[in-house]
Parts: sequence; structure tokens; C-alpha cells
Amino acid sequence: MGGTRILEKDDEDGMSEQGFKRFRRRRAPAEAAPAASDAPRQRPLDAPASSASAQLPATLPEPWERIRQVPFQDAAEQRVRLPLVSRFRSTPAAKSFDLLRTRLSHTLRARGWKRVAVTSPASGCGSTFSAVNLALSLARVPGSRTVLMDLNFRQPGIARAMGIQATADMGAYLSGAVQMEDQLLRPLPSLAVGLNSAKDQDAAEILHSRSCGAAVDDLMLRSGTDTALFDLPPVLEHDDAAAFLPQVDGVLLISDGASTTAAQLAACEKMLAGHTELLGVVLNRARKSESPLN
Ligand SMILES: Nc1ncnc2c1ncn2[C@@H]1O[C@H](COP(=O)(O)OP(=O)(O)O)[C@@H](O)[C@H]1O
Ligand SMILES: [Mg+2]
Repeated sequence: MGGTRILEKDDEDGMSEQGFKRFRRRRAPAEAAPAASDAPRQRPLDAPASSASAQLPATLPEPWERIRQVPFQDAAEQRVRLPLVSRFRSTPAAKSFDLLRTRLSHTLRARGWKRVAVTSPASGCGSTFSAVNLALSLARVPGSRTVLMDLNFRQPGIARAMGIQATADMGAYLSGAVQMEDQLLRPLPSLAVGLNSAKDQDAAEILHSRSCGAAVDDLMLRSGTDTALFDLPPVLEHDDAAAFLPQVDGVLLISDGASTTAAQLAACEKMLAGHTELLGVVLNRARKSESPLN
């Protein structure tokens, strides 16, 4: 398995600290200040209305508990084709993802952020590989909640990577036709995944739509998740990641140590600048000598 390394912001990749300060977020965080209109949805629909029974505890579990649990570890052992570092905890790659998780969590917590886009300059760099492994690493933190969404309508990959059958319709979910509880699955008690099975040429329009923003706000508010990772198509190949940027607090850019060029990284930085925060550049398939854990 190739190694994975986190480049610091001021590594020699042209992404200076100064450059980061220029980035500003544009979206007001809905989850930070829940709108009053969202409050009633927290109450179970069948909660009794009479004053006597109003004192009884709510009978429906909260939304997170209503997300269907699916078998994961055993199924993944047999079907998964992606090397999942959760099965190789002591490898340098697994340690790299734990380190990435810890650094990312610190940054997000310090700023009160939760929404992270995971993308890459070109396909095949390891965006899905990194998103899945980072989500598994985040989900190992006791008492935490992590959501992983496959928003790559060009080449959905999370279902296959995790060895879970994808039957859900992500397009319908983002249009508001399907509820969060019906779209997500929980392969682990602390991890919910939104799978994608349909290729859709109108992906950028879907991701840009008002209903997509509303679905993501609702997801963040009602799931009570600590971190949400959104796996997106490559920045330099499609408009999809750009269309979704207003919904996230920051971006993790996955570069391929074997194929990504400095020019590609510079092009990505230019595209993201002014629209979001570049939380980090991850060097996937790093050579051994490049790993800080060797
Ligand atoms: N560090 C790595 N070590 C081993 N295999 C990897 C690594 N990164 C990616 N891969 C493999 O490379 C292929 C492409 O990765 P993927 O995450 O699907 O790329 P992307 O989502 O960016 O298109 C997958 O088969 C994946 O298992
Ligand atoms: Mg992918």
C-alpha cells in the first residue's frame, strides 16, 4: 500500500500562509445557529400532544439512531477492493490517516467547522481512498459521529470501496425527495455514509441547486455529526467541486505523489482561492522517504 503524507500549508507547493489568510468563507453556518423553523423537526412526529402525556419521554429515537445499520467489517473483508487501512492499523498508511485525522480535527474544532470537501486535481489520485480511510479513522474516536457522502456523480466510488451495496439515489436525496434517514446507512455505529450509484451528467447543476444546500444544512443539523466529508470529482476535470464549495468550510486536496504536477496544484489553488479554505494538501502514494512516520 502506498504511503500518505500531509503537506503543511507552507510546504514548497506555493500555498503560503499568507495565501491562506486571503481565503474567506462565504456561507453562514446554519448548524452553528439552528433556525427556529428547524426546531419542530427535532420533535418526533408522533409525539403525544396532551399535557399529561407530554411529560413522557419521546418514543422515537433521534435521527442518527434511525439511520439503518449495515454489516461492514465481515462484508468488507470479502468484497472490498480498496485497501482499507482500518484492516492494517499498524502500517505507515494507517498511521498517516490517524495523523491527518488529528490535525484536521484540531483545525476544524478551533474554527467551529464541520464540513470538508475531499477532492483532487485529476481522477485516480486517491480522493475516494483518502475520504474513506479518513472517515474510518475519524469514526474510531469514541463518542464521535462522522458522515461520509459520495457526491461524485461522474464516478461514484465509496460503495465499492467499502464493500456496501449502493441502492440509494443521491440525486433524489439532494433534490429533497428523500429524507436523510432513508438515504444514509451506518456501517459503524459512529459512521454514516451516503452512497451514490447513479452517474449523472447534470451533476454540477444538482450540486449547485438550492435544494442541495438545504439537504446539506438539514443533514448537518439533524444528524448531529461532528465531521462531514464530501467526496467530489476532480477539480480540474469537472465543475462539480466548484459548484459545491459554498456548502463546505474547507477543502482537502489529495495529490498523487506519482503523477500530480506542481502546475496542477497551482491550478487547483487558483480555482479554490477566494471561494473556500484549503485545509491541506495530502500527498497520497508518497515514497517511503517522504513519510514523516518513517
Ligand atoms: N495510497 C494508496 N495505496 C494503494 N492503493 C491506492 C492508494 N491510493 C489509491 N489507491 C487505489 O488507486 C485507485 C484510485 O483511487 P481512488 O481513491 O478511487 O481515486 P479517485 O477517487 O481520486 O479517482 C483505487 O483502486 C485505489 O484503491
Ligand atoms: Mg473517486
